[in-house]
Amino acid sequence: MSQPRTLECDGMWDGGPMVPEEPIADWLDQGTSDPRQVAERYDDWAQRYDDDLAAWSYRAPASVAEVVATRLPDAASVLDVGCGTGLVGRALRERGVTARLLGLDISTASLDVARAGGLYESLEEADLQQRLPLEDGRVDAVVCVGVMTYLPEVEAVWRELARVARPGGLVVLTQREDLWHERGCQDVVDRLRDDGVWTPLEVTGPAPYLPQGYGGTPAVGCYYLTALVS
Ligand SMILES: C[S@@+](CC[C@H](N)C(=O)[O-])C[C@H]1O[C@@H](n2cnc3c(N)ncnc32)[C@H](O)[C@@H]1O
Repeated sequence: MSQPRTLECDGMWDGGPMVPEEPIADWLDQGTSDPRQVAERYDDWAQRYDDDLAAWSYRAPASVAEVVATRLPDAASVLDVGCGTGLVGRALRERGVTARLLGLDISTASLDVARAGGLYESLEEADLQQRLPLEDGRVDAVVCVGVMTYLPEVEAVWRELARVARPGGLVVLTQREDLWHERGCQDVVDRLRDDGVWTPLEVTGPAPYLPQGYGGTPAVGCYYLTALVS
């Protein structure tokens, strides 16, 4: 298991002792949802994020890519909401999904890393606590992986995800196990079904998410939700 890692602002960490501002695991534990704080922290983390998540055996991108590839193999466009450094785009390509990839995130440094990966047709800065900058029904599938932690207004966000997917399109997302219960996520799934927004196809969980925890914490599980947009 990897040791707790810390962030510093100048990006010059060389693996040796450092004077940290705060361990990333502690910050993740606090669960802030303030968009500015989130953007700052993910900007600081962007260059090391992929390596840390690999060390933590992060498996959600591959799991979500599997769902998209299986349920909508001919998807022509996928919106990756909270795309960060582009791990989901990579997982989609590795799983053979050839759709155009559009990404939104609030962290400009993470978007730069995703841009350097060259997989996304468009990458745009956006605050997911606001209306998404896309017209209704614009994409075939919407994926949102590892992001709901930072978005306490679950129902408003999920309605937005469904709004920008075309009828018959997919929404595939993750929610941390503890937050699934705390934020009444099953009730939201059902309410959107009753309102004719979507048909839930699958709620899987709790399933492995960060099976080695993050930086020394116990394992973290999550729920995977797949819904067919009405
Ligand atoms: C754990 S990372 C997940 C990134 C990517 N989906 C993945 O699976 O690797 C969470 C991402 O959510 C983004 N995020 C959190 N709150 C946000 C908000 N209000 N608006 C836009 N992006 C946000 C962060 O910037 C970060 O890139």
